[in-house]
Amino acid sequence: MSKVSPVKGTRDFYPEQMAIRNWILDGWKASSIRNGFLEYDGPIFEHLQLFTQKSGEGIASELFSFTDRGDRAMAIRPEMTPTLARMVNQQINALPRPIKWFSMPRCCRAEKPQKGRLREFFQWNVDIIGPESVLADAECIFTAVDYLRSVGLKPDDIQCKLSSRKMLALLLEDQGFSEDELEPLYVLLDKRPKLSDAAFSELLEKTVPDAAKREKMMAIQALKSVDEIDELATGDAAKESVAELRELFNFLDSMGIGQYCTFDISIVRGLAYYTGPVFEIHDMKGSLRAVCGGGRYDNLLAGLGGQKVTGTGFGMGDVVLEILLTERGLLDVKTQNMDFFIIDADKERFEDVLKLTFQLRSRGYSASFSYKRAAIGKQFKQATTQNARFSIIIEPDFPENSNINIKNLADGSQHQYFLEEFLADPTIAMN
Ligand code: HAM
Repeated sequence: MSKVSPVKGTRDFYPEQMAIRNWILDGWKASSIRNGFLEYDGPIFEHLQLFTQKSGEGIASELFSFTDRGDRAMAIRPEMTPTLARMVNQQINALPRPIKWFSMPRCCRAEKPQKGRLREFFQWNVDIIGPESVLADAECIFTAVDYLRSVGLKPDDIQCKLSSRKMLALLLEDQGFSEDELEPLYVLLDKRPKLSDAAFSELLEKTVPDAAKREKMMAIQALKSVDEIDELATGDAAKESVAELRELFNFLDSMGIGQYCTFDISIVRGLAYYTGPVFEIHDMKGSLRAVCGGGRYDNLLAGLGGQKVTGTGFGMGDVVLEILLTERGLLDVKTQNMDFFIIDADKERFEDVLKLTFQLRSRGYSASFSYKRAAIGKQFKQATTQNARFSIIIEPDFPENSNINIKNLADGSQHQYFLEEFLADPTIAMN
């Protein structure tokens, strides 16, 4: 039989990696809860159509899809937002608003595996559905930054780069671009940070044949602040969308995370359903892909057969995040501890070892023992390997002598207790 290798772009979580994953997901969950979000989940696969309908070409070309036995087209979820929209649509009249939900799904995308991109990853999703105010966008951004700040990332490590698709569309329309010219321009802007000036000009020439329009586009991509946009915007709608973006920045300032946020016209996002503010969180060294991305979607729920209800939110992947935190020395994963490791000084006492182990476990303490009847030294070694905090030695003359010896393995101090006294309250030995 030949050995079956793991699938490219997937990960095996041995205990050491599992501890990191749990640490990341616990942090996400804690930030969600302190910011008032409720947890939800959905199925790992859905009808294919749910993902092809509104997410756009990018995601559709990266789907793991299959046909089930009833000949129905299915896909493993590449993202959570369509599932969220479907679930909310199903119960829209029964759900109290605003809907503030979070989830930490495992997602799959048939991407070419590379640094920060795998075929299977965990993605923290935080969304608010209902409110039209950019306060909801600000609250989602705050939740992401709140987490990243809590693990030690500073404004010079990461920045949330923000723009608005609505504002960009209105600005471009103000400048004479038609609606069907917008999509290719978004793609171009999205690529802008990775292109040299010359490469950008070359692509622009291909996308926009008209020289006068090209000049306008050059001016737009060079805009560096909301004030500069305000100067260029002429129509009322465009002015209004600039005011909305300004309001969003004001909320972020009031929330105390202004230093983490910057305006960036190149942020347009790859997913087709975004309609309003859009944002991505990037590491400032710029060597990694986005840690997080999100924005407002006005038409997604209606587009999936629901009412016209707006939503906003983001997804943060564990892969880029783990690389970033490792690079900055900020992974702070505690090893799993064992409370008690019970040792027999004589193999005749093994039954007593087992009895005490299971008595302690029944009382809610973690406890273990050696499977091999070995010398005390070897059993101590196992206690250390299993990160036990205390060892308990059952002496050869037990139970005539009903004392047990408890050793604190961190500082080496030892104390004797009557077994009954210890079992009545094991914490007496743990301080
Ligand atoms: P997205 O930009 O496609 O947005 O993904 C968000 C984040 O998920 C990325 O910034 C990245 O950290 C992570 N991610 C995506 N693809 C991969 C991959 N192949 N390997 C590792 N990590 C990956 C969305 O998915 C939107 N549905 C987010 C959203 C929620 N918008 C509103 N609500």
